[in-house]
Amino acid sequence: MTLKFEQFDNQFGARIHGLHEDRIIGQQLVEELAAGLTEHGVLLMRGGEISPRRLVELGRAFGELEILPEPDKRHPDHPEIFDLTNVRKDGAVVDFEEPQAVFLRGTERWHTDSSFRKVPCLCTMLYAVEVPDAGGETQFANMYAALEQLPDDLRYVVNGKRLIHSYVYSRANNPGRMDPMSPEEEAKYPAVSHPWVRTHKDGRQSLYMGGHVSHVEGMDLDEGRELVEEVLVAATKSEFVYEHHWAENDLVIWDNRSTLHRLRPYEISARRRIMRRVTVAGVDPVR
Ligand SMILES: [Fe+2]
Repeated sequence: MTLKFEQFDNQFGARIHGLHEDRIIGQQLVEELAAGLTEHGVLLMRGGEISPRRLVELGRAFGELEILPEPDKRHPDHPEIFDLTNVRKDGAVVDFEEPQAVFLRGTERWHTDSSFRKVPCLCTMLYAVEVPDAGGETQFANMYAALEQLPDDLRYVVNGKRLIHSYVYSRANNPGRMDPMSPEEEAKYPAVSHPWVRTHKDGRQSLYMGGHVSHVEGMDLDEGRELVEEVLVAATKSEFVYEHHWAENDLVIWDNRSTLHRLRPYEISARRRIMRRVTVAGVDPVR
């Protein structure tokens, strides 16, 4: 073992030591990173600056990288990097209601990235270039612990049920108003069904849900949505949550298979927050 994982309090999340900028990422390191991610759910690299090239290299250690659909948000030299920023191309901070701000504010709901895909992504990496001095934290919730400690009556209800995840639904229910999608666009994102209780390769189980969930398969819409809300509240209690307070140059990597996350509000039209995101594609469908 050449990397060291220093666990955060609460047995959820860990800081990585020993992964310097000049270290070549070989097979052994790849295996250690993958094992660390599965074990801890959230990983933090804190220290020196990470170049865009290195960020892509680190992402590739986990798997194939996704290229996100919006070309205007891609990093000019590295299309695998998605620029998440409230600073416009002209250098001004966005207005509260403009599309760029509305998109960012949409991530204030608990979710797991790309759960609306048949094969959702494996992990996301977020690197902080510039962060506000108040607000803009990211919270992560441990879905292994949440399932383990779910009250018996809820555990009984979620077992064996499937949730319908839909990008069209989550986008239409974004807290800010987004432009409606054309029928052609909608057709690109058919709703998918995933089990509510996800079984991982090692046999462990966790809850799998979040902001892209439209409803419970085979259940009355309203009744199902109420149930989803009830389970979400139970699953995101503070004892399952790690709140990350960003420092510049922080890189946080989270396992989308077993965690939920959300952005905490900040003064989006006053304080600059510039992040670079890399998304690692999933390999297996949710089981
Ligand atoms: Fe996200």
